[in-house]
Formats: sequence, structure tokens, C-alpha cells
Amino acid sequence: MQFIDLKVQQNVIKDNIDTNIRQVLDHGQYIMGPEVGELEHRLAQYVGTGHSVACSSGTDALLLALMAYGVGPGDAIFTTPFTFIATAEVISVLGATPVFVDIEPGTFNINPGHLSRAIAAVNNNDPWIYPLPDLHPPPSNRTPRGIIAVDLFGLPADYDRINALAQDHGLFVIEDAAQSFGAVYKGNPAGSLSHIACTSFFPAKPLGCYGDGGMCFTDDDDLAEAVRSIRVHGKGAYKYDNAVWASTAGWIPCRRPSSLPNSIFFPRKSYAAKRLRNGMLKNSVLCRLWSVLWFLRVIKASGPSTRSWPGTRNTAPICRKR
Ligand SMILES: Cc1ncc(COP(=O)(O)O)c(C=O)c1O
Repeated sequence: MQFIDLKVQQNVIKDNIDTNIRQVLDHGQYIMGPEVGELEHRLAQYVGTGHSVACSSGTDALLLALMAYGVGPGDAIFTTPFTFIATAEVISVLGATPVFVDIEPGTFNINPGHLSRAIAAVNNNDPWIYPLPDLHPPPSNRTPRGIIAVDLFGLPADYDRINALAQDHGLFVIEDAAQSFGAVYKGNPAGSLSHIACTSFFPAKPLGCYGDGGMCFTDDDDLAEAVRSIRVHGKGAYKYDNAVWASTAGWIPCRRPSSLPNSIFFPRKSYAAKRLRNGMLKNSVLCRLWSVLWFLRVIKASGPSTRSWPGTRNTAPICRKR
């Protein structure tokens, strides 16, 4: 039994998909075509940020965000070990050091109390304050640079405390919202909870597409400009000017989004409604059951919360209207 049955979904929204694919084939702008711009516009409105920059995956969105901050060797980035590998992988790819901070037992998200001690440990180069990565040879000088908080299983992390800590220590905060698009934290949508947020459109995600896709959200003009440039080989204003953003890792990636996956999104809520109407729910009940039980376990453990999961608010009709 499949966890996410995309074929069942596809049957419900097939006409829309066919129309959108046809449209991309007709205009022929397969990379960063008009669908990408429209999606950026609509999702920025939905999340409420000044900028949104689409790219080729959630992993790339994280990488672009770190590169825009110029992260490289010697930098310590605090994150959670309870996440998908991509969150820590992008830190290592750039030669920086992931410093893993333990989670809250009730939410499974990064624990701000431990985070505070981990920052102190790196500042004082003292693993007795908090366990530090055992690197050989040890980097002589690790500088705390930023935090990647992850909204695990759709539940936003404790951004009030995380952002306050970051401000006290001059760190940036990246929200890994790959699993939380559509969720809400104290009235604010996931994707708008820190300096920059990164989400994934992997098919199984709250907002999935047909292929790989990702997006960065930010209100910071300079950061958005940097991400836009790095996404296309460090491009400047002139087409062949590619020296604007030099990567600390020694290369500039090309992380442009394709038009086809960006033209096909699953409108989860209307899809769910149709699925109920068509009596198709029973096929997916068992494979969803474990995740519901998992969510209930988290809700029970965390008690009343001002954070909510994607399903409770994901009302945006994301699929391109015809
Ligand atoms: C928390 C988290 N971060 C990052 C990613 C990476 O996203 P993508 O698969 O689109 O590269 C995922 C995807 O599974 C994820 O769950």
C-alpha cells in the first residue's frame, strides 16, 4: 500500500494537469517560464512575504539561503538532528559545521533551551557546556553564524524563542518549512517565521508538485536578490555577468526551477473534498492512519498550542486556474 497515492489524486485533478502541461508545451519556456513567476507571486501572497524565489528543490532552497549568507568553512550552523538529511547536508556541503541541538520531547522540534547552551559552547569552544561535534582535526575557530529550525511533521518550531536567541547572538535564522507549508504559528503562516524560509514541493509534501521543486521566502530585499542571483549561476544585471555571488565552496550552482512541475500543484483541500465526495477515502485510510496517530501523539504531548498543522488552514487554491 502506498503512503501517498498520487495516482488516485491524479484521477481527480487530471483535466487541470493536462491543460497545464499542454500550456507549457505550447509556449516552450521549460525553464523559469511564466508559471514559475505566477507561482512565486501567489505563494508570496499566501505566505505574506515580500519575496519568494522558486528553485529546483527544497534542498536547493536551503543551499541557496545558506549561500546567500555566505556560509562556509569555520561557520557553525545550529540545527536539529530530527529532520530529513538535507537540512544538515547543505551545511556540510558548504564546508560549515552542523552543530546538532537536541529536541523538545513534546514537539520533536529544536529545543531553545539547549540551543542557548549550544551557542555558548561554540562561543567558548567548550563541549562541557553542550556537546560539540567531534571533528578531527578540530576547527580552530568555529564562529556561530546561524540556525536552521525545522518545522517537523508540519508543526512550526518555537520561533519566538529561537528568533530572540538569534537576535541576542547576531545569528540568522532559516526556517526549514519543507514539511509545514500551510501551517500557522501564532497567527503567522509557516514560511514567514524567520529571516528566510525554505520549502519543498516534493510530491509527498503538504504542497506537492509533479517533480522536484522548492522555494525561498523572505522580506529581506538584499537576501532575495542574492538568492535570485545564485539560483542562476550568480547572474548579475547583465546576462553574461556571472561574478556577482562567489560561492565559498568554490562553485556556483544552477538551481533554476522548471516550468512543468511548477504548473502542476495538488490543491490539497479541494482534492480532499472531491475525494470524500467520490467515496475514495477508504483506499487511503490505512496508509494515513499512522500519520494521524503520530500527529495525535504530538498534540497530546504538547498540550494546547498556538501552532497548527498544514491541514487546518491550507485553503489556497494553488493549482493554476484555467
Ligand atoms: C525537513 C526537510 N528539509 C528539507 C527537505 C528537502 O526537500 P527536497 O526533497 O525537495 O529536496 C525535506 C524533504 O524531504 C524535508 O523533509
